[in-house]
Amino acid sequence: MGKRRGRMQEIEVKIEKTEFPSVGISSYNDRKVYVKNTFPGQTIKGRVKKRREGYLELKLQEVLEKAPYEIEAKCPHFGVCGGCSSQNLTYDKQLELLGEEVKTLFEDASVTTGTYEGVTGSVDQFEYRNKMEFTFGDEFKGGELCLGMHMKNQSFGILTVDNCKIVDEDFRKVIKATVDFFKDKDLPYYRVMKREGFLRHLVVRKAKNTGELLVNLVTTTQNDFDVNLYAEVIKNLEFDGTLTSILHTENDSLSDAVIPEKVNLLFGRDYIVENLLGLKFKISPFSFFQTNTKGAESLYSIVRDYMGDSENKVVFDLYCGTGTIGQIVAPKAKKVVGIELIEEAVEAAKENAKFNGLSNCEFIAGDVAETIKHVKDKPDIIILDPPRSGVHPKALEYVIKFDAKEIVYVSCNPKTLVTDLKVLVENGYEIIKTRVKDMFPNTPHGETVVKLIKK
Ligand SMILES: C[S@@+](CC[C@H](N)C(=O)[O-])C[C@H]1O[C@@H](n2cnc3c(N)ncnc32)[C@H](O)[C@@H]1O
Repeated sequence: MGKRRGRMQEIEVKIEKTEFPSVGISSYNDRKVYVKNTFPGQTIKGRVKKRREGYLELKLQEVLEKAPYEIEAKCPHFGVCGGCSSQNLTYDKQLELLGEEVKTLFEDASVTTGTYEGVTGSVDQFEYRNKMEFTFGDEFKGGELCLGMHMKNQSFGILTVDNCKIVDEDFRKVIKATVDFFKDKDLPYYRVMKREGFLRHLVVRKAKNTGELLVNLVTTTQNDFDVNLYAEVIKNLEFDGTLTSILHTENDSLSDAVIPEKVNLLFGRDYIVENLLGLKFKISPFSFFQTNTKGAESLYSIVRDYMGDSENKVVFDLYCGTGTIGQIVAPKAKKVVGIELIEEAVEAAKENAKFNGLSNCEFIAGDVAETIKHVKDKPDIIILDPPRSGVHPKALEYVIKFDAKEIVYVSCNPKTLVTDLKVLVENGYEIIKTRVKDMFPNTPHGETVVKLIKK
């Protein structure tokens, strides 16, 4: 029961459960209440930020009473940094909430999970990330230069996260050396609203199984500072892994995303190589690669298992990125056809197949919704691993027309997953089993794998 305070601006509620993506749920005067960054069992004080007919949205002000299972967060940045959201929960509790949230989405959409196989956790709960994109900025207006993550619940502040615990020591060293180097140089960070400044982002990728490290400094062209001086600093650091690449990406676009308008190689080669399940993968600076390497091995093993017998079958790997899933199943399959939007990733997929001595893989660059029409092969199995927005309705129409016996759907967004599954079920597919795989400990996200067969 909530407690009325002042002019109804602040109320106290007890959180009853969470809904994906881990939003705390309570009730107040018969209205449903949503509060981000809260967990079941907590009593909280929140300020009403949205009031609608059937619900209220609160902004968390204070946790008045902790939940009994809460623990001390490992990272000193936790709570201020906008990255992790649940380091204060035991890992078992994180997995329990993730599983419940995904199952509830299926139930609410009246979509069966088939046999629900539970949640598979990540081997590593810390130091698991193989890629981070850090932003240059300041913690407060006029403060010293910072490099790291956006601050929680703030649109502007940047926090230097040189103690971040979801990356390893090599990442932390690069952050610290980079921010220290540029603090001295008095170069302005890029201000999105003013469209002015030089320093934008720092992208770090590390292949966890090979130890190869890529450092990519992203700036505008508004200053002719010699970035080779920066490369020298990074080259002189001692790493646990091996520094393989230093790149300088020029990005004058107005968007806050990293857009590689021009990429200059400052040291080494412009890619790193990772080993996954006995195969080698070339990862170029901007292509998609699962951000938790050990998690990816486990996820792809689940996919392989869900596919059952791929012996002599034609497999479509739609939204294939650098062709990881397709190549993992290729040794048994008759043929693999992969489709991916990013040309650079497709080039890497082709090279990867050569690297791995696989001659039965074809990778095509293009939008799945458009390209799939022109594919002549007939698939026995279709793997779908779309971005968060799910499978485009046009693409789903073609997927259904192919009439494949089996579909394995891998999703990083269970909300769009259930919408797409509904369409597949309406068109003659049956959901056999579902498993949730945590790839992103300490965050509300996870992957869901579903096996469907044609009835
Ligand atoms: C979740 S990732 C999966 C990648 C790959 N299966 C893997 O595990 O590494 C989704 C991929 O879909 C690609 N993509 C996004 N929209 C697309 C579209 N309309 N057509 C084809 N590929 C698309 C993205 O570039 C990204 O590589």
